[in-house]
Amino acid sequence: MKKKIKKILVTGGSGFIGTNFINLISKKNYTIFNIDKLSYISSEEKFKKIKNPKKYFFKKNNLSNINEIFNCLNFFKPNLIVNFAAESHVDRSIEDPLYFIKNNIESSLNLFHSYAQYSKINEARLIHVSTDEVYGSISKGLSKETDSYNPSSPYSASKASQDLIARAFNTTYKTDIRVINLSNNYGPYQFPEKFIPTLIFHFLKNRPAPIYGRGENIREWTHVEDSSKAILKTSLSNKKFFNINIGSGKKVSNLEIAKTIFSIMKKRKLTSLTNQNYLKMVKDRPGHDIRYALNTKLFRENINYKIDKNLKNGLNETISWYINNNSWLKSCLKKYKFNRLGLID
Ligand SMILES: NC(=O)c1ccc[n+]([C@@H]2O[C@H](COP(=O)([O-])OP(=O)(O)OC[C@H]3O[C@@H](n4cnc5c(N)ncnc54)[C@H](O)[C@@H]3O)[C@@H](O)[C@H]2O)c1
Repeated sequence: MKKKIKKILVTGGSGFIGTNFINLISKKNYTIFNIDKLSYISSEEKFKKIKNPKKYFFKKNNLSNINEIFNCLNFFKPNLIVNFAAESHVDRSIEDPLYFIKNNIESSLNLFHSYAQYSKINEARLIHVSTDEVYGSISKGLSKETDSYNPSSPYSASKASQDLIARAFNTTYKTDIRVINLSNNYGPYQFPEKFIPTLIFHFLKNRPAPIYGRGENIREWTHVEDSSKAILKTSLSNKKFFNINIGSGKKVSNLEIAKTIFSIMKKRKLTSLTNQNYLKMVKDRPGHDIRYALNTKLFRENINYKIDKNLKNGLNETISWYINNNSWLKSCLKKYKFNRLGLID
């Protein structure tokens, strides 16, 4: 890419990572256009912290409408597109795989196809945000970019499909789509149905928090600020790669995460639960992957960003964020009541 990147189109910029990413890039003098369908999980625009509102535009739009994507590309003329748009909750993908998979494949396919036409006459790159879940569960070792995909849930299968379509577009239409395989994220604006906010919310309300199965599932946790910075640096890099793994290397079981959050909140006198009653073991998720872990050598050797937020500090800050952003939390809880989803028998 020869041109300096000035205009960034973000798709799915009203979700958890998209909101954090836009808050970050709005401090850096880019002009930003956010397209989001605004689903139950999206944060309302009023919660964004945009540094220069004159350089930020939002359009409510479903990527299932391909004509609208063409219009937005031709109107805004971005040099960089970062795609976060997807349904993202595994339990909901188990509950309604038809809606979920259709949304994720159709939205990305439409975006890639529109971008392929647009980039014939405009220099632009597309960064597609994917997940470590596409590699499937590995009991030991680390997943490399060259490993084959082995998804287990309707969610990860839909994400794997998006990545394969991106690869096919690059081969066939010579597009410049790059895929970031990101590990589990936590931090501000994460919808309460996800694991870490569920724990924080239950402990704050003095309710034992649900843990699926035996809580032994291991995830690699990265703070969303680190991820946003790493995604931006990767997006701007001219190094040649198709997909790249990004993660903190911090691999922790669900039980350990729950224990750490509980001990921080207990110390800060934010909960009256005790060591004996802070958890409630519940039926496991069908097909629950045991462990994800990424090999991030490609990222560490080629992208000038060091992921370094300490997990305990990051969790402590996240707890404070949820306490200090009660109006945001209230708006989420109008749409979600902690009902269990994704059980099939
Ligand atoms: N959160 C994580 O831990 C994590 C980890 C790895 C990868 N990812 C991936 O990163 C991306 C962002 O994740 P997130 O946690 O912010 O997700 P999220 O569910 O919080 O936000 C996704 C946003 O995309 C929008 N969207 C979905 N379908 C759309 C469509 N058809 N048209 C327009 N907008 C649409 C939603 O309205 C929502 O605002 C996703 O693609 C996800 O698969 C997330």
